[in-house]
Amino acid sequence: MNPESDKRDLLSIADLSTDLSEVIERAREMKRARVDGNLSATLQGTNIALIFEKPSTRTRTSFEVAINDLGAHAISLAAKEMQLGRGETIADTARVLSRYVDAIVYRAYRHIDMVELARFASVPVVNALDDREHPCQIVGDLVTLAERWKGVFRGRRLAYVGDGNNVLNSLLIGGAMVGLDVACAIPEAYRPPADVVQKAEEIARRTGSRLTFSTDPKAAARGADALYTDVWVSMGDEGEKEAREKAFQGYQINDALVALASPDVWVLHDLPAHRGMEITDSVMDGPRAAIWDQAENRLHAQKAILERLLRPPPAGRPPMN
Ligand code: CP
Ligand code: NVA
Repeated sequence: MNPESDKRDLLSIADLSTDLSEVIERAREMKRARVDGNLSATLQGTNIALIFEKPSTRTRTSFEVAINDLGAHAISLAAKEMQLGRGETIADTARVLSRYVDAIVYRAYRHIDMVELARFASVPVVNALDDREHPCQIVGDLVTLAERWKGVFRGRRLAYVGDGNNVLNSLLIGGAMVGLDVACAIPEAYRPPADVVQKAEEIARRTGSRLTFSTDPKAAARGADALYTDVWVSMGDEGEKEAREKAFQGYQINDALVALASPDVWVLHDLPAHRGMEITDSVMDGPRAAIWDQAENRLHAQKAILERLLRPPPAGRPPMN
């Protein structure tokens, strides 16, 4: 929430605060409505700008389709084709776009630029990934787990194996918010930032979720209800490719690791995957992968997120959990 106005931003998954469970349920409802052919055009008449500094397949397409399905209009902008690429400031861009559109979805290299855009925009800003968080991804991931676990996260354990990156940061905070236990196996040098861990732990103390950190993928995976991994080399980390590929040897989700988890385990990957690196073909294409549903659920999650920011429920609604 921007303190200077009552517009709502989604820069961190923590910004969904007490709304997260409702957003997950609303996404599931909208998924069913799309199948039944009775989805309402709840954002009719709104215009939403999408700014991308980095490549995207899922986020861009799912946002554009979500916006279209809800009766709104999407304007996709590649940052390097905007005046931003020629030195116009983020603040001025935010001021101008706010005069045209009802929300801005932004994929940025730097979280400070995300914060700057939100600060100067008078319309909601949605983080479509930056170097700190990927909140929309995790909303979709929680939808995927909720539909497999009858909406109950408490008492379930997800093991995350790999890099302590933007995806993990949102997963730690979002997991803690819904009461999910998260066991991380990450090489010492690639652990998530201390302030993110502290934030997630504060939330976990309130919800009863348990967050643990080790360097042992097998220990984390043993008995886990879900396994999650992401690329070893994120967008922007390409200069560290060689060192990272060395450091993450052994941090792979393969058949042997899946065999240690619960027989009912679900395997998640936000994609794009580097098959043969952080995850094997046999797991991605195997019976325990929830990865394609996970990718689809981005679409339903984006709808619920945009609705929540643009059409908040009436004041006085009782808070969730
Ligand atoms: N998972 C995800 O955000 O994918 P894209 O980079 O293709 O948007
Ligand atoms: N951690 C990855 C996620 C891609 C969707 C990256 O930032 O490149």
